[in-house]
Amino acid sequence: KLVPVILSGGSGTRLWPLSRAAHPKQFLRLGAGPSLLRDTVERMAALPGRGAPVLVCHHRHRFLAAEELRGAGVEDATLILEPAGRNTAPAAACAALEVLRAEGDDALLLVSPADHLLEDRAAFAGAVAAGRPAAEAGALVTFGVTPAGPETGYGYIRPGGEGPGPVPVAEFVEKPDREAAEAYVAAGCLWNSGIFLFRARRYLEELERFAPEILAACREAHARARVDLDFLRLDPEAFGACPSDSIDYAVMERTGDAVVVPLPARWSDLGSWSALWAAGGADRRGNVFEGDVVAEDVRGCLLRAEHRLVAAVGLEDHVVVETADAVLVAPRDRVQEVKALVARLRAEG
Ligand code: GDD
Ligand code: MG
Repeated sequence: KLVPVILSGGSGTRLWPLSRAAHPKQFLRLGAGPSLLRDTVERMAALPGRGAPVLVCHHRHRFLAAEELRGAGVEDATLILEPAGRNTAPAAACAALEVLRAEGDDALLLVSPADHLLEDRAAFAGAVAAGRPAAEAGALVTFGVTPAGPETGYGYIRPGGEGPGPVPVAEFVEKPDREAAEAYVAAGCLWNSGIFLFRARRYLEELERFAPEILAACREAHARARVDLDFLRLDPEAFGACPSDSIDYAVMERTGDAVVVPLPARWSDLGSWSALWAAGGADRRGNVFEGDVVAEDVRGCLLRAEHRLVAAVGLEDHVVVETADAVLVAPRDRVQEVKALVARLRAEG
């Protein structure tokens, strides 16, 4: 059985001031459509022959997440709540342990981020179907996207052969520096989409091998988990003691059993304001406007108004995001620095 696992615990700080601790990126309605989480749930729920989905998120977001599941018409999901974020390796481990308990040893996990733009559901379903036999045979299947440039926020996959079907991964590198990213792009590597398909048991075996402390902590957190209403609460003490790491660093960079299937679809992580601008369908002046915006002689800008009118004159290649209590203004090519800015705001309280 193919069990959709949705990881929805990230904080999306680079999309401040829209993305906040209490209401992060995956719950936002960024364009005209539903939230990224709702879109992800619908995409996963539409897969043929799927099992009951599992969603893993921070406990403070439990009602937001439940609401999005309801909105997507999914009523059979299990919601696993983390007392604190420990990144994706533990989140996926707890999902794997719960699925093994509920579905038994044959369960395949399709692990997906909750914060992506991926509209072509047919291409997604096709790639999943193409990867399935390899996953059933014990491989850790990744889905590779053709890079649009040397982005440093992604993992890079060097395929060890020619597609179109699954090919072994020759090398997996998480978030290389700029120079290395340029070399990977030139060498024909793919971006890691962050979607994985593997048998629950296989993932846990690899975790046991490469990050045994994570597995041990997750086993305990899951064994001592508490059912609360419709939620499964991981044990705070055991989970709190778990080291923090991502699937990418903890497992994918180290395993010898990864394969990659191409995902031939328009895809974006929508991780920053420049990514949103690029995905937003700019008009002929290169502008993306959202909300109550008036502009005169403005080019290459993202202007977003939530609560008030935003007016701009003679502005080029900037991002302006207005919300009820904060306004961001930055050149479009420096929006990655928002992350550091938010860290500073938090530190200064
Ligand atoms: N439940 C839970 N708990 N979910 C989490 C946690 C956590 O502690 N941390 C992150 N997530 C969720 C995020 O909400 C997101 O949906 C997904 O897991 C991926 O986490 P990110 O933090 O967004 O990862 P990334 O974007 O830096 O990198 C990953 O995704 C890239 C593609 O977007 C990696 O897999 C890269 O290799 C990949 O290229
Ligand atoms: Mg991400």
